[in-house]
Amino acid sequence: MSGRLRCYSFHSVKGGVGKSTLSVVTALKLARKPGAQVTLIDMDLTGTSLADVLPLEAPAWSHVEASERLNLLQKPDGFRSLEETRDAMEERDEAARKALEENPEGPESRMARGVPFLNDYLLFATPDWDAQQDVPVASLLWRVQGLAHESLRVIPSSALPSDLERGIPVIFDENHSGFLEGRLEYLLDSLVPDASGDEAVVVVDTPPTIPGLSRSVLSLALRLSRKEKQPLSEDGMMPERLRNAEVQWTAFLVSTMDRQDLRAAARWLSLVNEEEAHHIRFLINRARSGDEQQLKDLLSQALGYEPNPLINNPLWVKEERTWELFRTVGEPIIPEGPLPFLEVE
Ligand SMILES: Nc1ncnc2c1ncn2[C@@H]1O[C@H](COP(=O)(O)OP(=O)(O)OP(=O)(O)O)[C@@H](O)[C@H]1O
Ligand SMILES: [Mg+2]
Repeated sequence: MSGRLRCYSFHSVKGGVGKSTLSVVTALKLARKPGAQVTLIDMDLTGTSLADVLPLEAPAWSHVEASERLNLLQKPDGFRSLEETRDAMEERDEAARKALEENPEGPESRMARGVPFLNDYLLFATPDWDAQQDVPVASLLWRVQGLAHESLRVIPSSALPSDLERGIPVIFDENHSGFLEGRLEYLLDSLVPDASGDEAVVVVDTPPTIPGLSRSVLSLALRLSRKEKQPLSEDGMMPERLRNAEVQWTAFLVSTMDRQDLRAAARWLSLVNEEEAHHIRFLINRARSGDEQQLKDLLSQALGYEPNPLINNPLWVKEERTWELFRTVGEPIIPEGPLPFLEVE
């Protein structure tokens, strides 16, 4: 038996409800625990990046210039400074744009340069990639500048226009969602601790709207949460460490008190079956006083929902200045006190 994986993912129908904020706070909070090993995965490939809100330092390969190709199959041997990271991101974008202009279909247009993003792993952006040798996870792990502890690593997505352009055909195509889910599954496999008894925490931020990437994450969550873990394809294959690991996953469907959002979220939740309901929590963020009563009225009168414990008993996070960590500069300040949506802290 390998170690344990404790996963949290944040999903929503509408954008801007607080998924990234909740993901970051969860990861930072859990990373404070002695001996913690936390990885924050930014699955929002649709145009925003945690690298733009957190002071993240990218892994580096010495003797490799920012404009040169990265061979992600080789493990990195250090980290770039924050400034170097920012510069390398721009160089990556420039080089990719040039390659796209020259030959949009050519392999050069898909190469990882400068800094590695989750996009590169999901979309095989490195030369010599084959089924026998996957990218080691160390090639993707960025560190947070100024954090006293080394217990948190982040795998950011790219918000560079060139990466978005290259990813669009895959990211927004539901036919690829199984493929992306499979890649994420392999990534999780490499985060499973070796020793039984050890635990790793994985926090996954997803883009708004359920279909697509968010559903890929949710589907993986539910497959891994079954008593008998369910493989992605009919051939029954599942990466070995993950298959042997104990996986606990809580997927949060986040909404605000906005009625469109609530109604849409409640529709999705009403599709959840009893077994799945153990792994999904409804979370209302940016709540104000009086919202609990208002929600009851809305659900029973305006939305006409039958009693459903998943919908009727949400978790609440208040609208508070302390949660506005993306408006501050530098190391994010974690709200004090226990997080109302984490059972274990
Ligand atoms: N509980 C809260 N109280 C006050 N402000 C909040 C709270 N939660 C989130 N915010 C603010 O709401 C805004 C949107 O948050 P965030 O970016 O986390 O949403 P998101 O769901 O990740 O958005 P997107 O769907 O675009 O990825 C941010 O400015 C954030 O600071
Ligand atoms: Mg977000």
